[in-house]
Amino acid sequence: MTIKKCHNIGHIRTLAQKKLPAPMFHYIDGGADDEVTLHRNTTAFERFDLMPRMLVDVTAINTRTKVLETTLEWPVFLAPTGMSRLFHHGKELAAARAAAKAGTLYTLSTLATTSLEDVAKETTGAKMFQIYILKDRGLTSEFVQRCKAAGYKALCLTVDMPLAGNRERDHLTGMTMPPRFGLGSLMSFALHPEWSLNFLRNPDFKLANVAHRVDALAGGAMPLIAYANSQFDRSVTWKDVAWLAKQWDGPFVVKGILSPEDAKLAREAGATAVMISNHGGRQLDSVPAPIDCVAPIRDAVGTGLELIVDGGIRRGTHVIKALALGADACSIGRGYLYGLAAAGEAGVTRALTLLRTEIERDMALLGCADIASISRAHVIP
Ligand code: GLV
Repeated sequence: MTIKKCHNIGHIRTLAQKKLPAPMFHYIDGGADDEVTLHRNTTAFERFDLMPRMLVDVTAINTRTKVLETTLEWPVFLAPTGMSRLFHHGKELAAARAAAKAGTLYTLSTLATTSLEDVAKETTGAKMFQIYILKDRGLTSEFVQRCKAAGYKALCLTVDMPLAGNRERDHLTGMTMPPRFGLGSLMSFALHPEWSLNFLRNPDFKLANVAHRVDALAGGAMPLIAYANSQFDRSVTWKDVAWLAKQWDGPFVVKGILSPEDAKLAREAGATAVMISNHGGRQLDSVPAPIDCVAPIRDAVGTGLELIVDGGIRRGTHVIKALALGADACSIGRGYLYGLAAAGEAGVTRALTLLRTEIERDMALLGCADIASISRAHVIP
């Protein structure tokens, strides 16, 4: 199978599984505990039906929309995901380039393997930076200043990760970061020689945004991931969110919101948008699917707070259901990472093109020529 033979995101996932050693594939693919939420994120879309209207002029379909003060050619952008080097040597640059070509926004993770400055320098297109409020508040503020200097459009604060969730597939596959060719996973590395040889030739795994702090603190001796884990701060509350929002005067997203009450608190703390997300089912298992939280949150906040739906999106119809229920845009993580793993930049481009084509076709079949005309009347719970 080649990337050209992939006709939906599910096919691209299958190709990614062929390309990646098991620890890397399951790190992308897996969720927390029994993966109840992971599966529900996608299956929950099936509980909503679309109600099309006939005899609407759909000669020209316009998917353009504006969110986070940024014009997107279509209403899906790339969510933050850590450590792209694990999946392809094209790293974050490959994904950011594909996003720019597709006319959409790329979000760079704090735990990226390319620095925020390099991504800004090497790629065109609008960018958002994902930030944590770390124990090291100096580094947190430093990120804000660096993002301003590098021209990032928006800041996205992750709030659902006071500590990492329980991802048992990582224990089973012997996933380590940086990757190590351990006894348990040796066979899988041997069976995926293209990835393994490339990694041996360029073992350039580095958490590029925080590396300078690790060196300063530990003389380079501390494993980078141990540093990152040690920096998650369980004491963070809404007053810290307000502290961060004040330092950033631009679109400010709080990512990881599921309840209407928290959406309102995010707005009070200075958020212009919330990302309705359960971290792809990777944190607390048994929480609701994002799609089930859209209408209650929209009804509670009214207009004036942008809602982004993140989690389980694999089809154009999923995006349309989210918009119909009150979302302004959607974001995908695994949906593009499978493409990155399968074929680098070309793989991300393929994933984005397929999804966009589905949205355009679905809008025409639904009787909606532009994004603004997709309404609650088009969806039946
Ligand atoms: C990091 O945020 C992860 O989910 O692995």
